[in-house]
Amino acid sequence: MLAPMSDERPIGVIGVGWVGLVTATCFAEMGHPVIAMDIDAQKARALSRGRVPFHEPAVDELLERNAERLTFTTAMEDVLESARLLFCCVDTPPTYSGDADLSRVQAVVSRLPADGDYALVMKSTVPSGTGRAIRRDAPGIAYVACPEFLKEGTAVRDFLHPDRVVIGADPGDEWAADGVEALYRPLGGAIVRTDVASAEMIKLAANAFLATKISFINEIANVCEEVGADVTEVARGMGLDKRIGGSFLRAGVGFGGSCFPKDTKALKQLAGNTGYHFQLLTAVIEVNELQKRRLIGKLQKHLGPLAGKTIALLGLAFKPDTDDMREASSLVLASRLQGEGARVRGYDPVAREAAAELLPSVRLCESAEAALQDADAAVIVTEWSEFAELDWSALRERMANAVIVDGRNFLDAQALRQAGFVYEGIGLAHDDAQAPEPAPAESAEAASR
Ligand code: UGA
Repeated sequence: MLAPMSDERPIGVIGVGWVGLVTATCFAEMGHPVIAMDIDAQKARALSRGRVPFHEPAVDELLERNAERLTFTTAMEDVLESARLLFCCVDTPPTYSGDADLSRVQAVVSRLPADGDYALVMKSTVPSGTGRAIRRDAPGIAYVACPEFLKEGTAVRDFLHPDRVVIGADPGDEWAADGVEALYRPLGGAIVRTDVASAEMIKLAANAFLATKISFINEIANVCEEVGADVTEVARGMGLDKRIGGSFLRAGVGFGGSCFPKDTKALKQLAGNTGYHFQLLTAVIEVNELQKRRLIGKLQKHLGPLAGKTIALLGLAFKPDTDDMREASSLVLASRLQGEGARVRGYDPVAREAAAELLPSVRLCESAEAALQDADAAVIVTEWSEFAELDWSALRERMANAVIVDGRNFLDAQALRQAGFVYEGIGLAHDDAQAPEPAPAESAEAASR
C-alpha cells in the first residue's frame, strides 16, 4: 500500500458498478480519501459493510484494507460537498439501435451545479462528441475524458499497473487534466494528454481493434481446420512479430462481455450516424456471432443429431474470474442446443446465480462432475483453471459419450486423446480418426428415466 496523503479533498466517484468500485478502491489503496455515490441504496449499504456485490479478484481485500478512506453514500450532495474531481462511472449500455444509452450519464450531469469548482472526469465509455456536448450544456464545470482500459478478472492489477492513461481535456480545463494526471502519475504508465474527442475515440478504437484481432484469429482458425493447420501454432508464429503482438490472438467461441460487443456496435453506429459505413467492424461483429454457433456443428459431427443428447457446458461467464454473464457465448450456445432438442446442463464456479436468471431452462449443476454425469459431450465455454485439473480419465467412465469440444483450446488435447476422448478444439487438426459411431438419440440419462 502506498503512503496515505493528508488533508486532501476526497475523490468523488459516481456509480459504483464494476468500473466505479475498482476505481474507488484502487484510489483508496493509493492513499487517497474517496467518496463514492450510487443511487442503489442496497448496494451502497452492502459496500459500507464491506460486501462486494460481484466477483472481481482483490476488490474485497482492497475494500477491507482501506475502509477508513472509503465512504459510500446515495446522496450526490455528499459528494459535491467535499469532492472536486468527480469520476463518472455509470454504465452506458447499448440501445436497440446500437447507440450507447447515455441516460445515466445525462442524469449525473443534470445533478451538477451550474457552475463551481468541479471537474467531471468521464470514465464511462461514451461516443466521441459526448464530452463536448456536455461541456456546452454545463459550461460552469470542467470536463476531462479519462477512459478506462481495465479488464474484468484482472481489473485491480490493470488499474495499478496501466500501460497508459489517456487524459483528454479541451482548452480552459487544463487544471482539471493536471489534477487527474497527478493522481495517475505515481502508477508509472505512459500518460497520453490529448483533446476530449480524441480521448473518447481512443477508447472505442482500442476495443474495436482488440475485437478485430479476435475475429481475425477466429477466421484464421476456421481456415486452419480446412487445411489441417493448427491455429495456436499460427498465432504463436504471428504474434512474435512485434508489429503484430501475441495478445488477443486466442481463437475460441467468440468475444463476449459488457464491452467488446457493446463498443463495436457503438463505434459502427457512431460512424453510421455520420453517414460512414464501417465495413470492417460490420464483419468483425458478424464473424463473432457466427463463431458462437460453430460448436454446434462440431458436436453434430461427433454425435449426430443432438435431439435427446445431454450436453454439459463447462463455464458460463463470458470469461474466467468473473461472474459476468453479459453477452456470454454460453447464452447463444445453450439456446441453439435447446433449439436442436438437446438437454443442456451448465456449470460455472462463480456465475451460477447470474446464470440462473438468464438460463432458466438449463440445469445448473453444483460441480463439473455433476454436469458431466451421463453427458454425451463436454463443451468448454469458459477457460476456468479448475477444468484443467479435473480427473478426466475418471470422468470418461461417467460420461455416456467420451466427447470433448473445447471452445477455448484450453485442455491438454494429447492427454485427453490418450485417455480415450474424442477431443476437438477450435482451429486444430481434426479428430475424425477417433470419432465414435454417433450414439443413439437417447442418452444413458434419458434411458434411465
Ligand atoms: C475489455 C478490454 O480488454 C479492456 O481493455 C476494456 O477496458 C474493457 O473491455 C472495457 O471496455 O471496459 P473485458 O471485456 O473485461 O475487457 O475482457 P477481455 O479480457 O478483453 O475479453 C473480452 C472477450 O474476448 C472475452 O469474451 C474473451 O474470452 C475474449 N477473448 C479475449 C478471446 O476470445 N480471445 C482473446 O485472445 C482474448
